[in-house]
Amino acid sequence: MAELLIRGGTVVDEGGERRADVLVSGRDVVAVAEGIEAPAGARVLDAGGCLVAPGLVDLHTHLRQPGGEVAETVESGCRAAALGGYGAVVAMPNTEPAIDDPSVARDVLELGRGALAQVAVAGAITIGRRGERLSPMGELAALGVRLFTDDGSGVQDASVMRQALEYAGDLGVVLAEHCEDASLAAGGHMHEGAWSSRLGLPGQPALAEEAMLARDLSLVRLTRTPMHFLHLSTAGSVDLVRRAKAEGLPVTAEVTPHHLLLTDAEVASYDPVFKVNPPLRGQADVEAVRGGLVEGVIDAVATDHAPHPPETKERPFEEAPPGMLGLETALAVAFGALSGRLGAVGLLGAFSWRPARIAGLDPASGGRQGGPVAPGAPANLVVFDPAAEWEVDPAALSSRSRNTPYGGRRLRGRVRHTLREGEPVVVDARAQR
Ligand code: DOR
Repeated sequence: MAELLIRGGTVVDEGGERRADVLVSGRDVVAVAEGIEAPAGARVLDAGGCLVAPGLVDLHTHLRQPGGEVAETVESGCRAAALGGYGAVVAMPNTEPAIDDPSVARDVLELGRGALAQVAVAGAITIGRRGERLSPMGELAALGVRLFTDDGSGVQDASVMRQALEYAGDLGVVLAEHCEDASLAAGGHMHEGAWSSRLGLPGQPALAEEAMLARDLSLVRLTRTPMHFLHLSTAGSVDLVRRAKAEGLPVTAEVTPHHLLLTDAEVASYDPVFKVNPPLRGQADVEAVRGGLVEGVIDAVATDHAPHPPETKERPFEEAPPGMLGLETALAVAFGALSGRLGAVGLLGAFSWRPARIAGLDPASGGRQGGPVAPGAPANLVVFDPAAEWEVDPAALSSRSRNTPYGGRRLRGRVRHTLREGEPVVVDARAQR
């Protein structure tokens, strides 16, 4: 069996941090200790100055297949994921057709089989994501689908959401809401605030997110069924989740790297690369979502990697679709945005073991992601150099699209190596196949 030694790093997992080498044999870790001798014939990967952690898990990736292959494919998206340190991604169902049917889910899972990261699939809550009739959630759950969402839009009809929660409770799956009240958000292209007034662009108010979140929290209180909240972006949302958790409601929440770093002031450039849903908010909101993550009110960082090809993304701001790339830059962006307020264990928990649990990909759920770095554990690992500086070159990204908001920016922290089931799929920041 192929052996591989990761030498000289600091191992970080839920149990804490320690200096240790990691020996991998086949698909598993077999030893974690200081000063391991490389066995004859073993490959050695240098991890000097690096953190060695369980691979990252993205709860929110738009892989665009089927139907959006000009923007991304399962293959290109998973290559971007591996370069970003991800061991697994959850593919969002707002494809064409939507993943609202077992045959589409099976196709995406099949495409993921040879990819550089594990592909899990989120199913649509309603048929065609139209918010009217429930998808065959039981049949999708039987294929292993654990998360359901109409992401791209929220489920507008409260009675449909109530019914979905009741089914989800029976099936033991989790609903993930894109909180956006369509009537309040209608016509808005950016956050409603001082910048939208100054720029003359119609805004969507924070209330569009918070009103649906508050409604859903009431439905969770009624049904006692777990729910996950996607890409929360406002101070009011953080307060609502804080209170819900204090009350004991079974809820989890994520924030994106871009909502941790960027504000609506970026829109002053009128560059549609900064158009995203939910929109970039004000500085007080950015501070609040950072605080929510540090406090543990927000459980996970998820990318909302949303590739769009230049022919649509480079239209005038009001006509361009919302969305930005995220997979290849996420860990560095979050690392920089939190600049020391969250230690390595806290940050990697938000990127690895906590999202693994929400997605049901952790060892306790029968999965192979987010577990400890320990003998017998799966060798799905990331080696991250927190001191490496690099400049983001949109043309050099491996996604099929180019819509990164960080083009030309210098980031600190870079994924050096990624192991998928023991295979070094990324070495020295280069994909190996
Ligand atoms: O900005 C976004 N883009 N937000 C979403 O919710 C959907 C996504 C997309 O699919 O492009």
